[in-house]
Amino acid sequence: MVAATQGVDAAPKIALREVVWLDKATAFRPLTGGLQVQVGKAVVRISALRDDILRVQISPDGRFSRDASWAVLPQAQHHTVSVRAFSDRGAVGFRTASLKVRVQRSPFRLVVEDLTGHVISADAAGRPVEFHGASFEAHKTMPEGTHYFGLGDKTGPLDRRGESFTLWNTDAYGFQESTDPVYKSIPFFIGVTADGRSYGLLLDNTWRSWFDFGKAARDSLAFGAEGGALDYYLMAGAAPKDVVRDYAYLTGPSPLPPLWSLGYQQSRYSYMSDAEVRGIADRLRADKIPADVIYLDIDYQNRDRVFTVNKQTFPDIAKLATDLRKEDLRLVAITDLHIAHLPNQGYAPYDSGVAGDNFVKNADGSTYVAPVWPGPSVFPDFTRAKTRVWWGGLYKDFVEDGISGFWNDMNEPAIFETPTKTMPLDVVHRIDESGFSRRNASHAEIHNLYGMENTRATYEGLLQLAPDERPFVLTRASYAGGQRYALTWTGDNTASWNHLRLSVPMLLNLGLSGFAYSGADVGGFGGSPNADLLTRWMEVAAFTPFYRNHSVKGSLQREPWVDGPAQEAIRWHYIEERYRLLPYIYALADENARTGLPLMRPIFLEFPDVLNARADFGYEFLLGDHLLIAMPPYGESLVPFDVPLPKARWYDYWTGLEVTTAASNDARSSGIATIQENPALAVLPVFVRGGTILARQPLVQSTAQTPDGPLQLDVFPGRDCTATLYWDDGHSLEYKRGAFLRQTLHCDTLQDGLALTFDAREGSYAPWWKSIEVVLHGWDANSARAAIAGTAMTTRLNAKARTVSVVVPDQAGRAELLIEQ
Ligand code: GLC
Repeated sequence: MVAATQGVDAAPKIALREVVWLDKATAFRPLTGGLQVQVGKAVVRISALRDDILRVQISPDGRFSRDASWAVLPQAQHHTVSVRAFSDRGAVGFRTASLKVRVQRSPFRLVVEDLTGHVISADAAGRPVEFHGASFEAHKTMPEGTHYFGLGDKTGPLDRRGESFTLWNTDAYGFQESTDPVYKSIPFFIGVTADGRSYGLLLDNTWRSWFDFGKAARDSLAFGAEGGALDYYLMAGAAPKDVVRDYAYLTGPSPLPPLWSLGYQQSRYSYMSDAEVRGIADRLRADKIPADVIYLDIDYQNRDRVFTVNKQTFPDIAKLATDLRKEDLRLVAITDLHIAHLPNQGYAPYDSGVAGDNFVKNADGSTYVAPVWPGPSVFPDFTRAKTRVWWGGLYKDFVEDGISGFWNDMNEPAIFETPTKTMPLDVVHRIDESGFSRRNASHAEIHNLYGMENTRATYEGLLQLAPDERPFVLTRASYAGGQRYALTWTGDNTASWNHLRLSVPMLLNLGLSGFAYSGADVGGFGGSPNADLLTRWMEVAAFTPFYRNHSVKGSLQREPWVDGPAQEAIRWHYIEERYRLLPYIYALADENARTGLPLMRPIFLEFPDVLNARADFGYEFLLGDHLLIAMPPYGESLVPFDVPLPKARWYDYWTGLEVTTAASNDARSSGIATIQENPALAVLPVFVRGGTILARQPLVQSTAQTPDGPLQLDVFPGRDCTATLYWDDGHSLEYKRGAFLRQTLHCDTLQDGLALTFDAREGSYAPWWKSIEVVLHGWDANSARAAIAGTAMTTRLNAKARTVSVVVPDQAGRAELLIEQ
């Protein structure tokens, strides 16, 4: 028996133009938790990491790298389950508790089925795997009716079917709907078949890679890379949500972010001075616009030199940070990775970087120098553990100054004055990292990983400097697994209605690809939005995970007040709603940290049936599993529009009243209902699914403030009525030591009313609320009585809103609230 991870310490070596394809399987031998197959010169290893997760490694010459993975966690990668081998005339293979893996002998073909014989993923019938010199390609069948999602922030529609994509991190300033590649490379997709079964595939390869979902050949799904190993993971799930969880198991979920990162954030390229930042802060507070963060873009620095401050315009940044904290605002500062090339000028980041040999080199061994914002720059070698430690230490002064979070931009890496917009492929990086053989690697291998390792260095450095604070790192570029270190945004979008629409599938696919905390620059980075566009964007983004208004230099100002009081009032209302919703949103953050399920979800994640409907759900989204946001699909149009809704009871978020939907008369859309909406700038259509217990809080101006009053629970009766409350101190790691509050609630409709059950609380954190106001919607009776644990409570009826409310003391233990006629 050979362990699946054993192998020689080398990448496959085949001659430059040699073509190797997998033809006939010639020999088999069992592996721990799997099987090894000889196919001519090539060797295929298939191992079961879990009953529902397989790893497939294929080498053209039988040599396998021993390196660990940048994406996959070691504990997941090294786990195996026992399998039962089988062999028949045509195939050999094994079974796990949920999968059957068949390797057809001749021609070679890998087919993975569930135990009922449904194919999950199958190699294409002819030449499914080919190696051409250092590159490879793999072909799989692409059944009709299967939909594909993922690949991070790639542009285009939500469903990837019919499209092809290149993964090569690119500074895509001014990207449009069909621009490819863009900033991130996340070689992971989810396939959902017509009958709702799902699987995921992660190609763990950092080289320039590509995915083709039936574009080159109609029914063929193909992927490949220019170099590196053919090493992929297959995840099988009964439903798409299972695959999302499996991917989080492999690559790790995002850690719980600081609560303030879920508040409203005001940015601009750039607020140019201390006085301008204070002016923004004062206006936010004077206009009572809730906000948590103001950003410092590159102009706070001295001549764009990272880790410096322009003392003329920002004379005392520590005092600025302290004064803003008094207004319950925090500062986030940009710290790009490029370091000005300033030998012998006393620039500490450069000098200490040289002293530690921390910069990447040209093929001839000299330091690679290239222009970015500060002019000629050098670039940290983030795949060296020592370089990451050095980089992390550079944050010391800023952390001491009270800057709360950091923004790692330009980390594709972006290079100016070169057509490729990045480093030459032969720039040399060093890999010096536990789990990896120590070696030099070309930029071609490291490019897609570079941004992620930049954020890893920042994240780990911040944890060293402030060991009990949750680090906040924002990144533009990343790779699979990068969600462990940073939040992200979709880069330099444009101020257009089209880009507002485009932001929805981009953020949804990022969420499915591990990045639960993503946002698009509100208003659009490039250009200047008209007043209505900015208002609508402020509305939609209030329901997306990362809510930041940001704009390019030279564009019109874009703070909430810029278009006069009528527009400001609408924007203000939506920012306030965001803050009221924080208990709901924070519970989603806790769920994400435990399961990997994103905060912002495509409709099909909760209602897989919609994939078979003719209706277009691609620009609707869910926040969690209870709120559905349906922006007008054509922003400027004043024509009424139909909102398709999946099968459920739905309530209007703003009125709390149940909505009446029209059943679709299209046979393929059975179960889909529609509701007609008239576009009104002040109203973003938002719906609450029946079966919701929606937690909200009294209004605050910042997450630094403690809400004053009861926690509000709005109960919208319906099926599967359950919710989880979560709270903690919002910023430290004490929650890992038990200082959190988690509590599950259920509601059950009774003949004459409703029972709301509080399960016993987990964790030791005492919340800010002392009482809970329960508002039950859809109450038509003209009387109501309520009792909790046998004690009668006063009720309040509102006939117009069709609600009954009752305020009860906070319930830490198991309790039942009965509301009856
Ligand atoms: C890049 C970023 C943008 C930032 C600018 C200046 O274009 O994507 O967000 O404002 O650089 O730092």
